[in-house]
Amino acid sequence: MEACHLPGATWVQNIGISVMTNRKGKPGREESDPVADYLRVRNCTEDICRPLTAEDCQIQSITETSPPKWHLAHVTWFFETFLLQPFLPGYKSFHPRFGYLFNSYYETVGSMHPRPRRGLLARPTLEEVMEYRAHVDRHMETLLGSDIANERDGLPGRLELGLNHEQQHQELLFMDIKHNFFVNPLLPAYRGDLRRGPDEGTPMGWIEQPGGLREIGASGTGFAFDNETPRHEILLRDHRIADRLVTNGEFLAFVEDDGYSRPELWLADGWHRINVEAWRHPLYWIPNESGWQEFTLGGPRPLAQHEPAAHLSYYEADAYARWAGKRLPLEEELECALASRPCAGNFVDSDRLHPSPAGPSGQWFGDLWNWTASAYGAYPGFRPLEGAMGEYNGKFMANQMVLRAGSCATPAGHARASYRNFFYPHDRWAFSGVRLAEDA
Ligand SMILES: [Fe+2]
Repeated sequence: MEACHLPGATWVQNIGISVMTNRKGKPGREESDPVADYLRVRNCTEDICRPLTAEDCQIQSITETSPPKWHLAHVTWFFETFLLQPFLPGYKSFHPRFGYLFNSYYETVGSMHPRPRRGLLARPTLEEVMEYRAHVDRHMETLLGSDIANERDGLPGRLELGLNHEQQHQELLFMDIKHNFFVNPLLPAYRGDLRRGPDEGTPMGWIEQPGGLREIGASGTGFAFDNETPRHEILLRDHRIADRLVTNGEFLAFVEDDGYSRPELWLADGWHRINVEAWRHPLYWIPNESGWQEFTLGGPRPLAQHEPAAHLSYYEADAYARWAGKRLPLEEELECALASRPCAGNFVDSDRLHPSPAGPSGQWFGDLWNWTASAYGAYPGFRPLEGAMGEYNGKFMANQMVLRAGSCATPAGHARASYRNFFYPHDRWAFSGVRLAEDA
């Protein structure tokens, strides 16, 4: 698992919580050291919040997003609830009501504060949430440094799940911070020192993928979520898949061809959505007298023609594909294409936090999650994890679509070919884009 580091951090200056600066990964530890792995992931979360003020950490712009303060506490609650309480003898919870405030959706462990009202929690303060993190981290170091960590069945798996869970929330933090800042008419920049990718892209190429029996799903080497299992056979049809994502320039042609005004291009639910919510262009595109701008985590920028079109809903991705005379790839088609390529690309460690134009070898992992034409459902023979952990993925297998390949907001090392992300078809605050496919 790669460490993330965001330069230019001003957390102490902005928030003044000294505890944030005192806990670093222990130097000289091996990669496999569970304490070092734990602290590395925990520190990445705090690095992400370092440029934020306490006021920034309080905002919840829409129901789908959560305040950064809530994310900081919720991932901590996960370790407290699923590791410290069951495994560390004598552990006392930091606060008796935090379980109610920071449980997200685990019905089997108790009731929870309603999601749409997370932004109304002025208390606990951010400082108290950081004390909560420090309390849990101290006890996690005790747990992981003791013999219990090796003796108790299920503990290593829970730890790995907790760390991957926190990495998922790191991406959610970038998504939510971006939306929180976008609804502010000042359009503030989260960071003014982000790196930029190249200006030029490459023409879209097409990869022939022959049909036949293939296998998809978690390979059994390394961590995987339960929804990637079991590995199983699928039947591919002969098809072609684009070697890069659709660019802003290409999507602009759809917009200028009245793509948002032509019902024949849209699924019925999508047509309803774009009219009810008056969508006429991608979420973060801003029309002005000098042309289009795009809001980024670095603030507004002129729309870059060769960068991938970002923050599209499934409906927009599907409508674009229809307009282009193509289709979206099935998840198995994309997994087969990804599995033969190195899992490298524009992830968080590129420090761009924005998709970049494709390079000469195409564009596969990173940049933007690729919408697929596949509904999120159970693989044949799927069995959710036992107990409360079974609520992690399986209960969401209805009415959502699968996305693949990771994004510029995904921690490096967190993505893989078999990874199944999922969102509702109208969601567009994720770092999501379009890859085209066609039948051979
Ligand atoms: Fe969560």
